[in-house]
Amino acid sequence: MEILKKYDVVLQEHLEKAVAQKEPHQLYDPIKYILSLGGKRIRPALTLMVCDFFGSDFRKAISAALAVELFHNFSLVHDDIMDNAPLRRGKRTVHEKWDVNTAILSGDAMLILAYRFFENYEPQMFQELAKLFSETALQVCEGQQHDMDFEIRDDVTLLEYIKMIDHKTAVLLGAAMKMGAIVAETSESDKDKIYQFGRNLGIAFQLQDDYLDVFGNPETFGKQVGGDIISNKKTFLYLMAVGQGSTAQAEELEHLFSINPKDPTDKISTVKEIFLTSGAAEATQEEIRKYNANAFSLLEGINISEEKKEMFRDFGNGLMKRNV
Ligand code: IPE
Ligand code: IPE
Ligand code: MG
Ligand code: MG
Ligand code: MG
Repeated sequence: MEILKKYDVVLQEHLEKAVAQKEPHQLYDPIKYILSLGGKRIRPALTLMVCDFFGSDFRKAISAALAVELFHNFSLVHDDIMDNAPLRRGKRTVHEKWDVNTAILSGDAMLILAYRFFENYEPQMFQELAKLFSETALQVCEGQQHDMDFEIRDDVTLLEYIKMIDHKTAVLLGAAMKMGAIVAETSESDKDKIYQFGRNLGIAFQLQDDYLDVFGNPETFGKQVGGDIISNKKTFLYLMAVGQGSTAQAEELEHLFSINPKDPTDKISTVKEIFLTSGAAEATQEEIRKYNANAFSLLEGINISEEKKEMFRDFGNGLMKRNV
């Protein structure tokens, strides 16, 4: 994203150095691999951007930014095992390229490496960052457990779904931004507002991720399109389609989301069609706009210039329009 470009070079340089090539290769190669595939690097860039916007040298926030990105990559490597995903960032997932045990341990190592970056801060800041990080990481685990529980439940509510994505995804975006504010030593009120801003954007972000999982372009998306349908994920799309569609559509969906066919091609195309004709696809886009608007209203009370707020809004709008 254009606005975050400024931080890309610095991040790239530090990420390359973040993991020294050590023995055993089987542990470190997958870490190097997943990091080398890049991704959008939204979270660490946000840490740097927030620190920058609150008037501090963004380089001070680099260790926190690296911690966030390593944690994110750890969560993806383990998430891909849980979701049985073959593709990540356009390449084979770690557990496919190596094996599940390797993916578990390399993921664990990334989580520890993430924590280590906080050691670069003085005791008081270290404590504040580590506390936020631990709380967030535990919420991500809770969200991930709910996500998996929902695969086999047929009574998931919209509220439960929103809470689940808040935990598995949104709190990390909020925390990434709040860490930038902590390093910049802003007021408690600004730390809190930027956290809530990030969290609302994070919910919109996961809704868009779910949307792209169904409607993304397989050539450019970088992940298996239809993966959530194959795994019977009770996404906003699914819950809206069951709630808004005809009785026949709801019954068909409920049936399709209780089976695991060997060849999922027909299941995916039928579900896609129902998501469109029931109005669930449009309702999801509307929900994304709603959370974006929530985020923007939180910006108002933050103590930064109108020009910087406008840049945050541009960033939010860019996230909504993304196709990867
Ligand atoms: C993927 O996150 C996991 C979600 C929370 C949806 P990203 O879409 O930020 O993944 P990368 O890092 O850009 O690959
Ligand atoms: C992932 O949600 C959230 C975390 C990794 C914690 P998804 O399972 O939807 O993410 P993708 O689509 O695999 O990137
Ligand atoms: Mg998942
Ligand atoms: Mg996944
Ligand atoms: Mg997804």
